[in-house]
Parts: sequence; structure tokens; C-alpha cells
Amino acid sequence: MGEFTTGQLTIDPTCRIEFGPGRIAHLPELIASLGMSRAFLVTDRGLRAAGVVDQVLKVLDAAGLEYGVYDGVGANPSTGNVDEGAARARAFGRAVVVALGGGSVLDAAKGISLLVGNADAAAADADSLWEALDGLPLIAVPTTSGTGAETNGFGVIEDTAACRKVYLGHPSVKPRIALLDPELTLGLPPRITAATGIDALVHGIESLASRGANPVSVAFATQAVAMVGRWLPAAHRDGADLEARSQLMLGAHLAGQALTVSGLGLVHGIGHALTAHTGTPHGVALAAVLDEVLEFSAPAAREAYEQTARALRLPEPADGDWTGAAIAAVREISGELNVKQPLRELGVDRGMLGSIARGALADAVTRNAPLQPTEADVLGILDSAF
Ligand SMILES: [Fe+2]
Repeated sequence: MGEFTTGQLTIDPTCRIEFGPGRIAHLPELIASLGMSRAFLVTDRGLRAAGVVDQVLKVLDAAGLEYGVYDGVGANPSTGNVDEGAARARAFGRAVVVALGGGSVLDAAKGISLLVGNADAAAADADSLWEALDGLPLIAVPTTSGTGAETNGFGVIEDTAACRKVYLGHPSVKPRIALLDPELTLGLPPRITAATGIDALVHGIESLASRGANPVSVAFATQAVAMVGRWLPAAHRDGADLEARSQLMLGAHLAGQALTVSGLGLVHGIGHALTAHTGTPHGVALAAVLDEVLEFSAPAAREAYEQTARALRLPEPADGDWTGAAIAAVREISGELNVKQPLRELGVDRGMLGSIARGALADAVTRNAPLQPTEADVLGILDSAF
């Protein structure tokens, strides 16, 4: 980042943002604004048990809206989940799809919306659906602050038959509206606040350092790092702090906007491979290698890390080493969140390291890393995080 040559730039307009505590009360009029009077809610059983689903259904009941519900989305959503949800949604008929949940639910809901618009399609057809007919319009209501899944039109789905991850998406299922109500995140336990929040911080930092960064992404990412860096530790300490929850939620959304424009980098490349090999939650996998990757990338990311340090409002370092200061500050935030674990405690054994390194290098996100790693580089990072 730094000086950008000006040239051609296409930025897909962001979705409408409806933000604020208690904003969920506006859901019926937001559904109406999309020209529909029926809703199909996609969510998971955890939110059902926590009472969050009832809270939302009460709002729909009060407005006399007809609705259907699919609450079967799993933690790593599968093609089976998406096909099952789509069968229910097809039976229910035309409606706005309301995705209520974390990144998994939002991702599955995009697939469900798309399949309803394409009568004979199944989730396993993901690769050919990018040119398909439009899906149902979608309103995303995140219940965690981190993934930024409300800012794009695709989901990462486990194809259980083919044993691979597929990208299932279409421009039409990019959420029309992101309804960001921080009150919905008040009950999130500290462990999940940390794991999802660190994802947002990494989105901001990797976006700043990305080869795909431009002035628009840098604007989003800088503000995202400022808000998430300041308020994530506070939301982790006291989950009932509504100001912290609010700032974190909006910051995480901006981080999602940033990464959608710029792409990410090697922390995500390794993180995806770790999750694929061990089932480690996304944010925990990122935290496991975060400072090691920042150290590795530093020679090619000095300006981005200085921007990170300034966004975090760090004092000017006596030795002028902004990069070192930024990495130390990130290490401190991660330490306070207690989210970093050695790889060996995440179910990684030494025999897996080669395969994890190759997975990280093959992942498309790694192409935007400021310093392109060799397999030996990634093995070195994995070794120091082991
Ligand atoms: Fe992420």
C-alpha cells in the first residue's frame, strides 16, 4: 500500500447497512422494502436454544408476516445442509431469505437462496452455478462480529460426497441489506467473541498488506483496524458492554468490506489449511500463526504495518520501528484474548505439516500475500507455531 497509481477501478456497491441496538425491530419493513411480504429464516439450533430465533420470530409475528424456518445449518455447513434447506424453502415459496447467525449460517443461506432460484440445481453443482438464474433476495443478520460474510455473495460449503470445499455463490445472493444489531451479540461467550473478533482484526491487517489493496480498501481497512483493535478486548472482557459490542460489530463489517475489495493473504491461506486438516475454528486457526506470518511478511509490508500501528493509535516507537510495534501490539491483543494455541494442541502432528503447507500455497487467498512464500517458508512458519 502507500502510493497507488490511479487507473481503472470497479468497486461493487456495498449493501445497504442498517445498524444499531434494537434495529432488528425494523426487519418487517426491510422485508417489505424488497417487495415481499413473506420471509424464510435460515438459522441454527444453537440460536434456537439461546432464544435468539424466538426474539426475531416475535418481531415477524407482531407485523403479521408469514414465515418459514430452517434451523439445521451445521458448524461447517455441508452440501446436505444447503440441499435440505433449499427443499424447505422451495416448498415454502417465494420469500425474502433472512439469514440469522454466524458465518456458517450466512454462507449456507446464500446457497439456499441460489438453489431456490434454480429449480433443478443441487449444492454439489456449485461450480456451474456462478452463471445461474438469480436467487431469492437475502437479508443478512449476523449474530457474531467477525466473518464479514454479509458483505459478499458466496459461501464456503463442505461437499461431503466429494470431500472438498466448494465456493457456492452468485452476484444475486450478495445480501441486499446487512442488518447489524449489536444487541444480538450480547450473549456471545468470551471464547467465541475472541475467535470471531480476531478474524475481523486479521481481515483488516491482511487487507492493508494485500497486493490487491487500493485507496478504497485501505479506507475501509484502516477504520476497521481502529475500531476492532480498540473494542474487541473490551467486548471480550465484558460481553454485556453494548458500546463495545456496537463498535466491534461495525468494525468487523468494515473489515469485511475491505477484504471484499482487496483480498487477503497468507494468514488466511494457512488458516484455511489448518481448518481443513483439523477442524479448528477459523479464528483460532488464524490466531495460531498470526504473529509468525506478520514477522515473515514484514520486509514487504512495512507501510501496511505502519498504517496498522497508526490505526491502533500506538505511540511513535523510540527506535522508529513501526513494524515491530504493530506486531507487538497484535501479539498483545491476541494474548489478552487468550486465543493463540500451539499447533500441536490443535490436533496437528508433524506428519501433517507438508500437506498443510501445500494446502496454504494452493489456496487462492495466498496470491495476495505481500511476500510470496515458498513451501520451505510456510514449513518454517508452521514449525515456529508448533
Ligand atoms: Fe476470515
